[in-house]
Amino acid sequence: MARGKQIYEGKAKILYEGPEPGTLIQHFKDDATAFNNQKHAVLEGKGVLNNRISEFIMSGLERVGIPTHFIRRINMREQLIRHVEIIPLEVVVRNVAAGSLAKRLGLNEGDALPRSVVEFYYKDDKLGDPMVSEDHITAFNWGSAQEIDDMMAYALRVNDYLSGLFAGAGIRLIDFKLEFGRQYEGDLVRLILADEISPDSCRLWDADTGDSMDKDRFRKDMGGVVEGYREVARRLGILRNENERGDAKGPVLVSSNDENKA
Ligand code: TMP
Repeated sequence: MARGKQIYEGKAKILYEGPEPGTLIQHFKDDATAFNNQKHAVLEGKGVLNNRISEFIMSGLERVGIPTHFIRRINMREQLIRHVEIIPLEVVVRNVAAGSLAKRLGLNEGDALPRSVVEFYYKDDKLGDPMVSEDHITAFNWGSAQEIDDMMAYALRVNDYLSGLFAGAGIRLIDFKLEFGRQYEGDLVRLILADEISPDSCRLWDADTGDSMDKDRFRKDMGGVVEGYREVARRLGILRNENERGDAKGPVLVSSNDENKA
């Protein structure tokens, strides 16, 4: 597939122009960062696993009627996506006290919240992605009141879907982060889910042991980061056999002819 010029490089992904107008190619790197880039490592195989896990989840969300930017996976590290204007917010949904919420409110990590809560953070690395209110979002024109309503409704629907999906795989969904974008179609603007959903952007605990299977393993220097991601993929049924380890360099994950070409 023809890949156009690079238009953006983030901490864990690169975006290239896509083969047709309105499309992009999203490339998953092996880089991991935490604490606003203060900590960095290259974790071999992470990008391949996140590409597969995000494909699996975004496709599942599309099937239950939640619009996403995902079109199809192209190869081990890349997927074709719809070009959107990213809303500069991180939308976090929490079911269980952990991370920054546990710290800020003095809650015990692992305690279930009275109900799921949605939070917004303004995407700005220089500021360390500060938490913002709905009033900030409309006042500074980062999003409209309608978009806030839509993001919250979609975020809770994604939470329902993901909670069930992971529960069926013996995984407790603690919290996760979403990003949304605007897709322009003539005069119409459509809000759709963008970015990725993977162990980089979720807290996932083994339902039996409580062990982290997500990027907290990296944040907290626990080791076994890629192994945790691989176990998530295995339990979701994404890695079908032992050869599909997610760290292979050759075309081991091939499932269609298209993949060899990239
Ligand atoms: P937090 O507890 O550190 O605020 O994180 C909440 C959730 O958001 C957690 O699942 C990890 C995810 N997250 C990101 O995806 N990117 C980020 O930059 C941060 C800080 C958190």
